[in-house]
Amino acid sequence: MNEMIDRFGRIHNYLRISVTDQCNLRCVYCMPEEGLDFLESEHVMSFEEIEAVVKTGASMGIRKLRITGGEPLIRKDIELLIAKLAAIPGIDDIAMTTNGILLEKKAEALKAAGLNRVNISLDTLDPSKFRMISRNGGLDKVIRGIEAAARAGFHPIKINCVLLKGINENEIAKFLELSLNEPLHVRFIEYMPIGHADENWKKHYLPLSRVMEIAEDQGHHFARINDLQGNGPSEDYQIQGAQGTFGLIHPVSNHFCERCNRLRLTADGSLKPCLYWVDELNVRPLIGDEEALKQLFMKALDIKPLNHEMAAKLADENQSHQPTDRRMSQIGG
Ligand code: GTP
Ligand code: 5AD
Ligand code: SF4
Repeated sequence: MNEMIDRFGRIHNYLRISVTDQCNLRCVYCMPEEGLDFLESEHVMSFEEIEAVVKTGASMGIRKLRITGGEPLIRKDIELLIAKLAAIPGIDDIAMTTNGILLEKKAEALKAAGLNRVNISLDTLDPSKFRMISRNGGLDKVIRGIEAAARAGFHPIKINCVLLKGINENEIAKFLELSLNEPLHVRFIEYMPIGHADENWKKHYLPLSRVMEIAEDQGHHFARINDLQGNGPSEDYQIQGAQGTFGLIHPVSNHFCERCNRLRLTADGSLKPCLYWVDELNVRPLIGDEEALKQLFMKALDIKPLNHEMAAKLADENQSHQPTDRRMSQIGG
């Protein structure tokens, strides 16, 4: 079986596909309040183009896909794309990261189309704080979306909680209890400085050591677990007797780049070797030319750097290379 291996010996079997740069929320860590210059529809990859790129990727060693956005569920008939991707030989896991707002309506169709797993972004359990962080309402819809995903048979269901100092840090204990009382896998995520005003990031960035301090203060007994299905960077733990788990995703305080297994495809068709840096390769002109597409995947591996330099930003150190100017919503995380 083919494998894609980069200059540092890392096997790349995971492709994150952003299907739109638009979103029905405006989370403070992701997109400016006024939105962005969204892509014109002719610049957004069609389902057929995405399918062609994934077929080439799968022939070279891609096994896992994650559909992201912006918000992937605002892309019309997204379940049709899932069905196309599920039929590609070699693809054995398809997951989606969504804000959950439209999940209540879509969960069953997604499951029927072949989606295996969903990760749902949820940073607060307080409706007014939800309005503040997402600059929109809809916590009730997200909760109904999580319930609908469980009813549709998705398992495991993961919750992504980006920690923001002074905003939701006082909810860490509540999220830990959620993992205790519900079959949910809560992942605390460090706020990353991607295409952002650095001052806002420095003000609200919180290292995840805070989560462990609070788990201990609350008297929880917990242990590391290794068998939660997933392809990403989360370090997972389970509180004794819990139905769910909690996980730590700490790209800033302790990066996991040495284990990186993924490439990204943006909604406008750029192959992105690393979330953080500016480098991208445009696949669109090559679709239809299998050999040229393969060469482009190889080139993406070839230019992939060893790691990002987010932590250097905290210390105001110079970057060794140019960071991306895309926002998180234009990359898909
Ligand atoms: P699983 O397959 O369930 O493990 O998913 P995942 O954790 O890979 O995907 P998800 O979209 O839920 O991402 C969770 C968080 O990890 C988000 O904040 C992503 O931006 C972040 N993340 C995912 N991949 C990378 C990466 O390669 N580098 C960095 N720095 N962050 C990443
Ligand atoms: N830092 C960390 N995580 C982020 N996400 C979006 N922007 C950021 C950021 N600046 C998360 C979303 C979603 C996932 C794809 O990435 O909450 O769960
Ligand atoms: Fe939308 Fe997700 Fe960005 Fe929030 S994090 S604005 S839900 S794309």
